[in-house]
Amino acid sequence: MIQPHAIFNINGMITSEDIGISVLDRGYLYGDSLYEVVRSYRGVFVHLEEHLDRLENSARLCSMKLGQSRAVYREQILRTFEAFQKQPDMSRTDVYCRIIVTRGVGRIGFAHSKIQTPSQFTLILMPIEEPSPDQWKQGLHLWIADRLRNDSRALDPAMKSGNYLNSVLAYLETVETQRSLPVDDAVLCNSEGHVTEGTTFNIFYVRRGIVCTPPLEIGILDGITRREVIELARNEKMEVREVRFPRERLLEADEVFVTSSIKEVMAVTRINGIDLKSRQEGPVTRALRLLYRDSVDQRVAKLETGL
Ligand SMILES: Cc1ncc(COP(=O)(O)O)c(C=O)c1O
Repeated sequence: MIQPHAIFNINGMITSEDIGISVLDRGYLYGDSLYEVVRSYRGVFVHLEEHLDRLENSARLCSMKLGQSRAVYREQILRTFEAFQKQPDMSRTDVYCRIIVTRGVGRIGFAHSKIQTPSQFTLILMPIEEPSPDQWKQGLHLWIADRLRNDSRALDPAMKSGNYLNSVLAYLETVETQRSLPVDDAVLCNSEGHVTEGTTFNIFYVRRGIVCTPPLEIGILDGITRREVIELARNEKMEVREVRFPRERLLEADEVFVTSSIKEVMAVTRINGIDLKSRQEGPVTRALRLLYRDSVDQRVAKLETGL
């Protein structure tokens, strides 16, 4: 019987049972873990299968043997969500669900032979915080970090590992640096000066109606939202190009936006303290944000009716 650990974090308070993670867990010791973040919409995890696909792919990329089957992960996520919604005042609350899998617990040392357990599995669920209409409109203020994105030959960003120090440091070194204007998050370039992605999101710009984003081969996460937004834009007959570009391209763009499961499609209105042409959410960003929400709504309806 597998016991996933659910942490219900409500108003910042951990209210779960003792989750008892070992200090000898390789996730804790080495960042030797994988994770996914999926959110629910009206009680349904619309992209769960895509996230489980990516978890399996990440496991392949780092030769991690997943201790549970995909069906078990799916079932435990759904059961935990059900338990979450049974809490007082939570019956209709949508969640941020983080799925963490570590290579296991064992003796110190890197060899697989040191590991004494199957991979360990933890879930963290907490209420999702929806941005306000003003936040959608006002967009994000980003800073291009001096720190470079991991090279895919070193720690492939396509693998969603729990080793996020690259993103953590880029965030701390930009957002927590004293500046006259506040910064929300960081974008990283590679050693060739090309823009890659943000700390936890993919990035796009729009110029003369053409939607551009870095290609997967540059070394980024194959974002599930990125993928869907590209498809939605192409269905609307927008031209989408996956191209390498330097940071200046973002500053000259008509619009910039980011994508992620949590941020969905969110405008960027200032970069490195410079106001972009579009000081509020631009028309293409808005159109794609609404298309994305429509597509989510359709998926919810489909999954609810089981069709
Ligand atoms: C580095 C990075 N890039 C992009 C994304 C966006 O991916 P998705 O759209 O699948 O949430 C994430 C999400 O966590 C991320 O961590």
